[in-house]
Amino acid sequence: MRIAFFGDVVGKSGRKAVADHLPGLRERLKLDFVIINAENAAAGFGITERTANELYDAGADVLTLGNHAWDQSETLSYIEREPRLLRPVNYPEGTAPGKGAFLYDLPDGRRILVMNVLLRLFMQTLDDPFASIDRQLEACPLGMACDAIVVDMHGEATSEKHAMGHFCDGRASLVVGTHTHIPTADHQILPQGTAYQTDAGMSGDYDSVIGMQKEEPIARFVTHMRSGRFQPATGEGTLSGVFIETDDATGLAIRCEAIRLGGRLSQIEPTL
Ligand SMILES: [Fe+2]
Ligand SMILES: [Fe+2]
Repeated sequence: MRIAFFGDVVGKSGRKAVADHLPGLRERLKLDFVIINAENAAAGFGITERTANELYDAGADVLTLGNHAWDQSETLSYIEREPRLLRPVNYPEGTAPGKGAFLYDLPDGRRILVMNVLLRLFMQTLDDPFASIDRQLEACPLGMACDAIVVDMHGEATSEKHAMGHFCDGRASLVVGTHTHIPTADHQILPQGTAYQTDAGMSGDYDSVIGMQKEEPIARFVTHMRSGRFQPATGEGTLSGVFIETDDATGLAIRCEAIRLGGRLSQIEPTL
């Protein structure tokens, strides 16, 4: 299975990067499934039905969220009727609306399990992310109950993400980080066959402070005072993420490569 995952879409620049680059990329890489973290799609904060539809129209199959899941109040009801939208799986049982993990059917009959999990270090703490993911992986063994498994781990600390990658090694097709909005250069296939990247990077304008116009974040670091609101940067965005190909017999990864298209970052696109 050929799968692409893209990191946090930030505002209009991020949505435009997806719309400009994803349709062609989907063709060129013959992608079977596309997952996008969209927790910052609506003006940098959360997601709305309208912004989600822009991403689905551009070629996303599933959108994931994170700590910004509920920044837009409409998401609380929207997520109940949109199975292609996932919030963190590790909310305490019976609390958050929507789902954090779901098994999707491809048109050809193959099945892919996608999960979004909120890690704990320097973050709002939900239920144990390791125990939550372990339960999901045990309930749906890779290569038996499904053909591919992708875990979007939403977290701040590289150590916790690296540990989660190895914790899932051999049991998932891809474990990829989101939330820091900066792509890491460690995309690789772990020893037991799970593709891994600490952070997919944001899809947005990199002439910014993690997607926001620079002035207010810099002022807050310098003065420790609030002088305005955070607004998404508006320059050309980069579509940033990772491409994997799995062995359909096992669900494990046989390729794992970076994608960066448009905007300021060095450009890289896998070729078939
Ligand atoms: Fe984010
Ligand atoms: Fe986040």
